[in-house]
Amino acid sequence: MSLILAIESSCDETSVAVIENGSLIKSNIVASQIKSHMRFGGVVPEVASRHHVEQITQVIDHAVADAGLTSVDEVDAIAVTQGPGLVGALLVGLTAAKTLAFVHEKPLIPVNHLAGHIYASQLIEPLAFPLLALIASGGHTELVYMAQDGSFEVIGETQDDAVGEAYDKIGRMLELPYPAGKYMDQLAQEGVESYQIPRAMLHEDNLDFSFSGMKSAVMNLIHNARQRGDEIVPADLATSFQNAVVDVLVEKTVRALAEYPDVRQFVLAGGVAANSGLREGLKSRLATDYPDVAVLIPPLNLCGDNAAMIGAASHHLFEQGRFGDLSINAKPGMML
Ligand code: KG4
Ligand code: ZN
Repeated sequence: MSLILAIESSCDETSVAVIENGSLIKSNIVASQIKSHMRFGGVVPEVASRHHVEQITQVIDHAVADAGLTSVDEVDAIAVTQGPGLVGALLVGLTAAKTLAFVHEKPLIPVNHLAGHIYASQLIEPLAFPLLALIASGGHTELVYMAQDGSFEVIGETQDDAVGEAYDKIGRMLELPYPAGKYMDQLAQEGVESYQIPRAMLHEDNLDFSFSGMKSAVMNLIHNARQRGDEIVPADLATSFQNAVVDVLVEKTVRALAEYPDVRQFVLAGGVAANSGLREGLKSRLATDYPDVAVLIPPLNLCGDNAAMIGAASHHLFEQGRFGDLSINAKPGMML
């Protein structure tokens, strides 16, 4: 049994959750800073840190109250994102977590943000191993093989941009609000595939990705059309890009399943797991090609950054006594 208070502050959401046994959400408060970063077209690290400082105590109080607790004394441990992420942003969550752990004499559990994205699915259904996860977010695109709880083998990854980053940069050129992934996805549902976008590395015999060339292809199309004074159809461009991205991600996932035939469950993780084309593409292809592999895709509110996923990922660490002490530091480049 565990009741864990979890804190996530790696980027632009200040979030605190209370999670029971790594699977039941007692509370999950997410204070988004998106409005403050929107006018800059991206996350400004200094602004993010300042907002975390302003928000963190209120968000902790809110999460404790929402979980029906009267004090942090009632939880068994404090979990916190140690990395990867923005150093100043991570430090705010870490400092808050260390303070709570010290004052309330609770163990402190450092958690990897990417592990958190995978464990978000444990809030829906128990994870079954061996498991294959596709993490697709603003900073990462990786295929991860997990033989058991807490064991991560990165078997494929992007050689350049993350998929979310490519979405955001194209969206910015189309003057969509930040972060543009969601708006690109909405546009993609209204268009037809009329532009040719390369499917980078699709036929290469590995599990890696490359999104920088695909992003540049779209940006060049926009640029050249503008120079010629031609119209581009944003919805068609979004559809063409999305179809190319989904083709690559689905194909590499299927290839990974062929290479790891013992996989019992597939988990889609990260902010881009909210993408309608990707959700549908993976579900239908895996149902046809791998009907015995269970597919877990979190609901939209658990795809983006949130503390519930950190609480979910901390449960097995709690059971194994994998605690940190008060000297632990933020790890901006932390790997799985
Ligand atoms: O996991 P996340 O919340 O933060 C990171 O850890 O990076 O992912 C954020 C990324 C952003 O790039 C955002 O544009 C993208 O996820 N995103 C989407 C969609 N919703 C969010 N990308 C494509 N389609 C979506 N529906
Ligand atoms: Zn994330």
